Amino acid sequence: MNFGILLLPQINKITVLGSGIMGHGIAQVSAMNGYNVVLRDIEERFLESAMNKIRWSLDKLVEKNKINKQESDKIHGRIKPIVELKEALDDTDLLIEAVPEDLKLKKKVYSEVDQFAQEKTIYSSNTSTLPISEISQLTSRPDRFIGLHFFNPPQLMKLVEVIPGASTAESIVDLGINFVKSLSKDPILCNKDVPGFIVNRIFIPLVHEAAYCLDNDSKSMTQIDSAVKFKMYLPMGIFELADYTGLDVIHRATIEMYSRDKKVVNPHPKIEQLFSSGKYGKKSGDGFYSYGDKNYERVPLSEEEAKQYDPIRILSVAINNAAWLISNGVCTREDVELALKLGMGLKKELFEIGKESGFEKIINTLNQLVGTNGSFYTPDPYLKTIST
Ligand code: 3HC
Repeated sequence: MNFGILLLPQINKITVLGSGIMGHGIAQVSAMNGYNVVLRDIEERFLESAMNKIRWSLDKLVEKNKINKQESDKIHGRIKPIVELKEALDDTDLLIEAVPEDLKLKKKVYSEVDQFAQEKTIYSSNTSTLPISEISQLTSRPDRFIGLHFFNPPQLMKLVEVIPGASTAESIVDLGINFVKSLSKDPILCNKDVPGFIVNRIFIPLVHEAAYCLDNDSKSMTQIDSAVKFKMYLPMGIFELADYTGLDVIHRATIEMYSRDKKVVNPHPKIEQLFSSGKYGKKSGDGFYSYGDKNYERVPLSEEEAKQYDPIRILSVAINNAAWLISNGVCTREDVELALKLGMGLKKELFEIGKESGFEKIINTLNQLVGTNGSFYTPDPYLKTIST
């Protein structure tokens, strides 16, 4: 790993708002690349837990000889946990907001931030689904506001989607891209500020689709997950990944995306049920699966179980939503493939997996679903252009 080789001269101090899974990971990655970081949350106990998780992650990297103990201590020392907002924002060059996906909450947070942030501070949000143009309008500086969307775990995933809003200045887009590069990560520019951007437009609907498959196909969760892992080449099963990401995150993302665009996801009630009963996945101990209290835990999946299920419905929805992104000029096919590889660890190109299954079979599957489940499944015109 190369750390701190490309510090941006305009950015010395970074403030990360929110110390959850994404916030603490982003703070760690920034500190690993030489930046001075303040990690801010509303209570001391959240920050304590976040700093322990950072310590755990750094220890893992030491264990794997990615960094040495001395570097690990230096990185940890570069992150200052602070509750007081005014102090947290003092002299900050870049704000990275990673608070939960609720526009009302973000509105409150940005109105507080605006009271204390200095003129020089550039704002960015790690929102997973909320339009950047909408959030930026809640602030005093929509022209110096940009979406920087990291992927879980930020310590390991190479992708950051860079999303300009309607008012974002060109210079801030360039700065966002260069900042991502300075973190030793790969930026992909999202040309349009659409719900779910690139990766979540594919990932979030898959969780719902897998829940429909569980209802209809008389298969177990581990059979479906094994098929997703070994036949769709994702590193995790889809229920496993939902638990790992957090059902609270998936639920909020679903609500926000669906309220703006019915073509992005066909919500399954199970997600809301899990969320309402406090089953957030790995972080709460229960979700689709149950977990112990280890920092990192995997669901046992096998090639044997994968043989018992064809994940064609899940694959078809993934490909259809990827096709929508291309048809609508959000990004190129190459960028979709790169984003899925770097943001979700997909081990083979999605359209290559589609080709192996057969695009005709995919289009037929989608057409059948239109008949039974509605127009969400209408095959995107792009699929016809590649199926012949
Ligand atoms: N820091 C350091 N090490 C970590 C870590 C972290 N945060 N998290 C896990 N590790 C370690 C593990 O402990 C394990 O160590 P060990 O070998 O000592 O047990 C090691 O990494 C490798 O883990 P695995 O054996 O489980 O190996 P994998 O090859 O499967 O890699 C993974 C793990 C990178 C998490 C991989 O499973 C993966 O890419 N999963 C998919 C993640 C994904 O899709 N993320 C995006 C979700 S969508 C999103 O975030 C957007 C949001 O807006 C919703």
